[in-house]
Formats: sequence, structure tokens, C-alpha cells
Amino acid sequence: MPAKSMEELVALCKRRGFIFQTNEIYGGLQGLYDYGPLGVELKSNLKQAWWRSMVYERDDVEGLDAAILTNPEVLKQSGHEETFTDPLVDCRSCNSRWRADHLEKSACPSCGSKDLTEPRPFNLMFKTNLGPIDDGTSFAYLRPETAQQTFTNFKNVVDSTSKSLPFGIAQIGKAFRNEVTPRNFIFRVREMEQMELEFFVKPGTDEEWHQFWVKNRLNWWSKQGISEEKLDLYDVPKKELAHYSKSTIDIMYKFPHGLEELEGVANRTDFDLGSHTKNQSELSINAKVVKNTSSNAKLAIQDRETKEWTVPYVIEPAAGVERGVLAVLNESYEVQELEDGKERTVLSLKPHLSPIKAAVIPLKRNNEDLVSAATSLKGKLQGLGLGRVLLENSGNIGKSYRRHDEVGTPLCITLDFQTLEDQTVTVRNRDSMEQERIHQKETVAYLQEILK
Ligand code: GAP
Repeated sequence: MPAKSMEELVALCKRRGFIFQTNEIYGGLQGLYDYGPLGVELKSNLKQAWWRSMVYERDDVEGLDAAILTNPEVLKQSGHEETFTDPLVDCRSCNSRWRADHLEKSACPSCGSKDLTEPRPFNLMFKTNLGPIDDGTSFAYLRPETAQQTFTNFKNVVDSTSKSLPFGIAQIGKAFRNEVTPRNFIFRVREMEQMELEFFVKPGTDEEWHQFWVKNRLNWWSKQGISEEKLDLYDVPKKELAHYSKSTIDIMYKFPHGLEELEGVANRTDFDLGSHTKNQSELSINAKVVKNTSSNAKLAIQDRETKEWTVPYVIEPAAGVERGVLAVLNESYEVQELEDGKERTVLSLKPHLSPIKAAVIPLKRNNEDLVSAATSLKGKLQGLGLGRVLLENSGNIGKSYRRHDEVGTPLCITLDFQTLEDQTVTVRNRDSMEQERIHQKETVAYLQEILK
């Protein structure tokens, strides 16, 4: 069931502590959001699921966590200084600014006027000063994608891990874009996190690997609970391709505001490694690269048998964490009508993504024996290392169940007076709402099974 509207998701996120507007008490800051107690867990679970599938479950991928501040030379050679732009127009009637390619019927979305300036390129990269003197000569960019820091570390990773082709480098981290019109909640923001894999392959095998990664990523999204019918593929037409791409397939998702890009899978050829490589003419570089780089590196790999040096091609599955969070929230949010005529809101998140894995609830909040038994069970379950387990001591079982349905907790465990006699507890399943009485020793296996 899709969310009825973006507004409902925004309200849930604020009410239950998933996502807040940044600096709200000062009126906010456009295109920036903070993740609250539950949002931080959900986001972290999604990132962990990506890392597990990209790094732990593969033997041909290594991880990296590189700096955000980037030497301007990197982004000059990568082509971002020149081409990482959006077309900007000004409305002469109300002085608002818009992205030309986001306008409907060439009219200002604010006042409807068609008296707009000609589009001009606006570079999306944020700059900041390095060191104490702000004279414009010593600055860095906040990276607009994690990828460039991966490319500039290519030789470090190859030398330290002895990788041979094909292999990948995975990175999750912040990226910044001065979007002209951030909008649609966390869909288009100015500070985001990306989960990017740069997968290096032999030229000539790139198209096959491109297809492989598109399928792999579709499969991964479905394991995160995204239904197939809300996903689509968009083969980006030549004129829309990023400057580095030979071909890009976007994985599209039906967000509450429409079908939009969730993840891009690009064939970046040898454009980036080639552009950051010195003595380019001595190497087999196929793509059009920036000439005369000031880099001192040879970002190439030597075949162990033939000893030939190659600049690998790169297949890049690049996903936004915020868009992933929005998609899984949209996918799992539902207002259900119950048999007794009442309603319940439920987030049927895949349990590995749920911010809280289990809530342990003593029937009476002021009963020392019950609270002590619940605290001890919570400690035991928490010790399994499966994620957050919460001691829910609000004293009202019905309300606790509703609250945990709404934030996607797959399991509630209630301790009552019978527990004190025979060590049994009631386990309640979020999705079926069924309750079962089991021995508290069995809760470990029960929770492990849910999270398997
Ligand atoms: N390294 C390739 C790259 O950055 P991209 O298509 O520009 O490619 C990759 O970005 C992903 O990052 C997108 O598919 C999207 O999920 C996310 N993304 C890009 N810009 C975003 C923004 N302003 N707000 C939120 N997510 C964004």
C-alpha cells in the first residue's frame, strides 16, 4: 500500500522522531534535515544492509571512508568545475529563481509569469575556505559525489590489497550540492549521503558488468521491501547523460510525488581514472579525458601475466541514502482498518531496517519485580547485537503496541504477573498482531528468527 501523501509521511516522521527540519527553531534552512532517535537507526540500518551486500558478502569489493573536503584540482580534472551545473532562470516579475528544466509550461511556479531570463549554468558545488586567511586562493570544495575521492585513492587501495580486475571500492558518506530548488522533503536536499560503488573492470567487459549491476541493485532494493511494481528502469538518453557517462540506467521509484530516480547505475568508462592520471598518452585510455593533469599518479593496473597496463573502466551503482529512506518509509506506511472499526498506523518495515527490533514491556510500570525482570530480559536481548531493544515502561499495553506498530517494531514482548511465576511472556507480532505465550528463554530464538 503506498502512502497517501508526502504530507502524511512528513507528519509521521516528525511525530515519531524520524526526521526533523534542520534548525527549525530559527525557521529552518532550506534543503537540510536532521535525523531523530528513530531516523538515525533506520538510516544506519539501510547503510549497513548496503555495506553487508557490497563489502561483506563479496570478496571483490573493499571499503573506503574518504575526506569530504576536496582539493579543487580533483574537481577540475574530473570535469565538475566546468560541467556540474544546472540551468538557472530568474523570474523578472517576482525575482524568484528556478531550475529551467523543472518548469512547467515555461512559467514561474511562484507567480505564473512567463517573463523569465535565459537559462544560465549554475555550478552546484559548495566552496569553503581552508585555513585562517580568506583571500580566495586557498579553498576546498565539499565533495559533490563520494566517487572522486574513491578514484583518487585507487592506487592506495590496489597497492595495499593486491586486487586485480574486476574489483570494486565501496564508500558511504556525505555529499553536498547547492540545489537551486531543493524540494519534496528529503528527496532533493543540499546535504545528503550517498552509497556508491566504483566497480573497476577490463575495457570490453563493461557493458556486461553494467547489466549485472542493474540486476543486482534491483534485487537489493526488493530485499529492502520495495515492491517490484513501483520500480522502473530509465535508460538515460544521450543528451541527458552526465559528462563522464557512456550510458546510465536509472532505477526509478514511484515516490509520493511521482516516478523519480532512486539510484543511478552508470558506465563511467576510464574517464575519471584517465583524467587523474599523468602521462596519459603512454596508457591505453579510450575515453575523452582532461589533458595535462597535474596529478602525479598512474591510476592504472598491471596485468599479472601480460604485464600490460590498463586504465580500467568503471561501473558505478550510486544510490542516495535519503531517497532510500523515503522509499522504504513510503513502501511500509499503511493505515489499516481493524475489525473493531478502529484504525491502526503500521510501518511494515523489513525487520532488519526497523529502528527498534523489540520492545520489552512490563505490564505495570511501578511494579519493581516486573520492571526488574523486563530490564534483565532487555539486557539479554540487547546483548545479542541484533540492533536496538527498548524497555518500554509507559504502563499502557494497548498504547505501547500502537506506538510500536507506528514505528515499525516487529516484536513486542510483554511481562505480566504470570511471568513472575512461570517465566513465560507474551510475544506480539507487528504484522499479524497475533499473540503467543512462550517461555522467556525462547525469546532469543524468536527474535533471531524474525531478523534472519
Ligand atoms: N557518483 C554519481 C552520482 O553522484 P547522481 O545520479 O548525481 O550520480 C547518485 O547521484 C544518487 O544520489 C542519486 O540516484 C540520488 O539517489 C542521490 N542524489 C543525488 N542528488 C541528490 C539530492 N540533491 N538529494 C538527495 N539525493 C540525491
